[in-house]
Amino acid sequence: MNEKGFHIFSGSCAACHQVNGEGNNHYPSLFHNTATGGDNPDNLIATILFGLSRTVNDVPTFMPAFGPNASFTDRLSDKDVADVSNYVLSHFGNGKVQVTAADVLRVREGGEKPALAEIAPFIVPAIVVVVILLALIVAVFVARSRRRPAHA
Ligand code: HEC
Repeated sequence: MNEKGFHIFSGSCAACHQVNGEGNNHYPSLFHNTATGGDNPDNLIATILFGLSRTVNDVPTFMPAFGPNASFTDRLSDKDVADVSNYVLSHFGNGKVQVTAADVLRVREGGEKPALAEIAPFIVPAIVVVVILLALIVAVFVARSRRRPAHA
C-alpha cells in the first residue's frame, strides 16, 4: 500500500480530480487517459511537474505545476512525484508501470541539457573571480608605481 502517495494525492490532487479520480464537470477523470493508461509514465510525470494549460473546445483548462516551479501548490520532491504517480497508476491507470525518483529527475531535467545550461551556474562566480583578479592587479600596479623613487 502506497500510503505516502495516497496522502499526496488527497492533499494535492483530489481537490480537482476527486478522491476517486473520476473528476467532475470541470476536471478530467484520471481513468486510463493517455497520461495514466499507457506504458510510458513520462506524460504523467511531466503533467505533475510542470502542470498543463491548454484550450479544449474554446474552454481554457489549467492544471498547476507541482515541480520546482510550483507557485501556489505544494512543491513536491522527485520522490513525492514518484509516489503520487505510482498511486495514480495503480488506482486509475496502468498498474504495471512503476515510477522511480530517477525517472522524475530525468523528465524534470528534460533529458540532456544544452552546454550553456550546464555552465550557467558558474558564469556569475567566474565573472566575480575575474573582476577581483583585475582589481588586485591594478592595486599592485598602483602600489608599485607609488613606491618607485621619483628621480626624473
Ligand atoms: C487545480 C486543479 C488541479 C489539481 C490540483 C490537479 N490537477 Fe490534474 N488536471 C487538471 C486539469 C484542469 C487537467 C486537464 C488539463 C488539460 O486538459 O489541459 C488535468 C489533467 C491531469 C492529467 C491528464 C493529463 C493529460 O495529458 O491528459 C493527469 C494525469 C493529472 N491531471 C494528474 C494530476 C495529479 C497526479 C495531481 C496531483 C499531484 C493533479 N493532477 C492535480 C486540474 C488539476
